[in-house]
Amino acid sequence: MKILAFESSCDETAVAIVEDGRTVLTDQIFSQADLHAIYGGVVPEIAARSHVEVISILTERALADAKLTREDIDAVAVTYAPGLIGAVLVGVNFAKAAALALDVPLIPVHHIRGHIAANYIAYPELEPPFLCLSISGGNTLLVDVRSYTDMSIIGATRDDAAGECFDKTARVLGLPYPGGKPIDELSQGGNDTAYTFPVAHVSGSPYDFSFSGLKTAVINIAHHAEQTGEVINKADLAASFTKAVSDSLVPRTMMAAAELGYRKIAVAGGVAANSRIRRDFIQAAEEAGCELFVPPLKLCGDNAAMIGSQGYYEYLAGTRGSSDLNAFATKDI
Ligand code: KG4
Repeated sequence: MKILAFESSCDETAVAIVEDGRTVLTDQIFSQADLHAIYGGVVPEIAARSHVEVISILTERALADAKLTREDIDAVAVTYAPGLIGAVLVGVNFAKAAALALDVPLIPVHHIRGHIAANYIAYPELEPPFLCLSISGGNTLLVDVRSYTDMSIIGATRDDAAGECFDKTARVLGLPYPGGKPIDELSQGGNDTAYTFPVAHVSGSPYDFSFSGLKTAVINIAHHAEQTGEVINKADLAASFTKAVSDSLVPRTMMAAAELGYRKIAVAGGVAANSRIRRDFIQAAEEAGCELFVPPLKLCGDNAAMIGSQGYYEYLAGTRGSSDLNAFATKDI
């Protein structure tokens, strides 16, 4: 079954064609990062307008790249939540029109379910149940994935998402947006014990996260240095900051896996591209005797292949988007 999939929830417009949930026939991505870089973050209206401009072009390109025609498409899948509402609306409306024109089923896909499904593409042998940590620019979630379509959130950030914290820290250090990759690069060779940062625990909620204290601590160091003329070793600061994020994410995930009895752990989302976090997860999983699944870098960030993959399993479970399908800025998984 070939699914034409759309993703437009933030600042990537993406169109993919995925066969039977696991085989990516084409994966077209247009990143708007350059458009937003001068503002230091995503500007929702610019994002929505850019999606409108490129979504048709990417669709034509996807069909051509996969050497398929419109008649070969069996269903259309689309991210319908969560995300920047104007941005998600572009994908939803385009997908509805595509499904109507092609006379095929429409399948709404939750964006985080899509991130989790990136692992199905990367690891053909992976099947639920497992525990997944989804870490992106907008979300930090620990998800109990009981089946392909039955899952629940057992932990979440109480304030900033992990990626947001990377982006804000990068801004303070004068690095470009999005800041995750530049911080990752800068921290190579930095001393991760040069600065001591708080690793927040949310009382009574052992699986929840909090990153606002860490963000404030970095801002305070930068402002203090500015005022006193002290020169910050940015590599040390980046490495120490990344260690604090990892120390918040990895042990908590391992603890949740042990308590829920999972021996399979997956990681997903843009921040899963971070080299330190990947390394720490590999080590922790090895020590705990757990299998670890982390998608290759290309599948960590927003893409439509993951939406096509999850769309397939939603289709098998009977999920269909009706003709009044709407977009949602927030939605439980
Ligand atoms: O999943 P994603 O592409 O978009 C959302 O759904 O939010 O994640 C984007 C986030 C950004 O905050 C970006 O700075 C972060 O992922 N990111 C990284 C790295 N690469 C991207 N964070 C840390 N280390 C990286 N190497």
